[in-house]
Amino acid sequence: MRIMVTGGCGFIGSHLTDKLIEMGHNVCVVDNLSTGNIKNLNPEAHLYQMDIRDEKIKDVFEKEQPESVFHLAAQINVRRSEEDPFFDIDVNIKGSVNVIKAFLNVKDRKKFIFASTGGVMYGDTDIFPTPESVEPFPLCPYGISKLTVEKYLTYFSAFYNLQFVSLRYGNVYGPRQNAYAEAGVIAIFSTNILEGKKLTVFGDGEQTRDFVYIDDVIRANLIMLENPTTGIFNVGTGKETSVNQIFEYIKSASGKKIKKIHTDPKKGEIKRSCLCPDKIVQMAGWKAEIDIKDGIKRTFNWFKENFSGS
Ligand SMILES: NC(=O)c1ccc[n+]([C@@H]2O[C@H](COP(=O)([O-])OP(=O)(O)OC[C@H]3O[C@@H](n4cnc5c(N)ncnc54)[C@H](O)[C@@H]3O)[C@@H](O)[C@H]2O)c1
Repeated sequence: MRIMVTGGCGFIGSHLTDKLIEMGHNVCVVDNLSTGNIKNLNPEAHLYQMDIRDEKIKDVFEKEQPESVFHLAAQINVRRSEEDPFFDIDVNIKGSVNVIKAFLNVKDRKKFIFASTGGVMYGDTDIFPTPESVEPFPLCPYGISKLTVEKYLTYFSAFYNLQFVSLRYGNVYGPRQNAYAEAGVIAIFSTNILEGKKLTVFGDGEQTRDFVYIDDVIRANLIMLENPTTGIFNVGTGKETSVNQIFEYIKSASGKKIKKIHTDPKKGEIKRSCLCPDKIVQMAGWKAEIDIKDGIKRTFNWFKENFSGS
């Protein structure tokens, strides 16, 4: 199949591109390399170094005629979305609509698969694990922009027969995650350990997240490419892990004596997040398989092997 991956030089998009190419698909990538790294890009993928907001993206669609699109390119930093909501709107909403509109002109179009968020989608809900039926209430511009794109997808599906899937990921972690962004605590802790730094925990460390390993997330995407099902799905484990537990697991994976310091909690940070995966289990047969301790070991070992100092 001819496939486009936006954000294919980033953490999740590059793993997805590798897998699609391994399966024999013909993959092109659109990425402006703002947070992605050219080193992540599979050499068999054709790169269009382009911004998703660029109106010339329609020429890329015209030339490549991708039958399916995985749309992962985004501004992913929650803090930045709070400081500069207009930038977030520009990239995450306008950029996404630009990509969707260009895809509508493809003759043999099959599916549009969107990387959404489960982590911030349900705000301060008290229903855990949280199913998709809970009303979304994102408490940050980044979450609002992801929800808005889901609304656009529903609109284009109703009026333009767009087949789409929106995958609401938990906290994805694994090799290649950018440790210098604020998103991935496991990548940040791994790098801090290798740099000999103390680990900083915000607040009491009892805040929980649903950590889902990269291989499981890629499998969810691949299932959705083949499976006729459409709609919105959580992609999580249904299990909560606290930052303090993550600290203990990573300490044991590293085999080192590590200290942590607690600082003030992050303003506005939600206390708990945990996604109910029942819908995707029942409708598409996907279930997370990698246990958090095992995933952390794999991730830490990758950072160790690839550590070049700083
Ligand atoms: N990592 C997570 O835990 C997580 C959780 C929920 C949702 N997501 C979503 O998954 C997707 C991928 O996230 P990631 O963790 O791989 O992040 P990432 O920063 O590693 O990847 C994003 C990629 O998009 C590219 N990009 C950013 N802005 C662009 C623009 N304007 N035009 C073209 N390319 C652009 C970047 O260069 C990068 O290669 C994002 O949509 C993110 O919101 C990630």
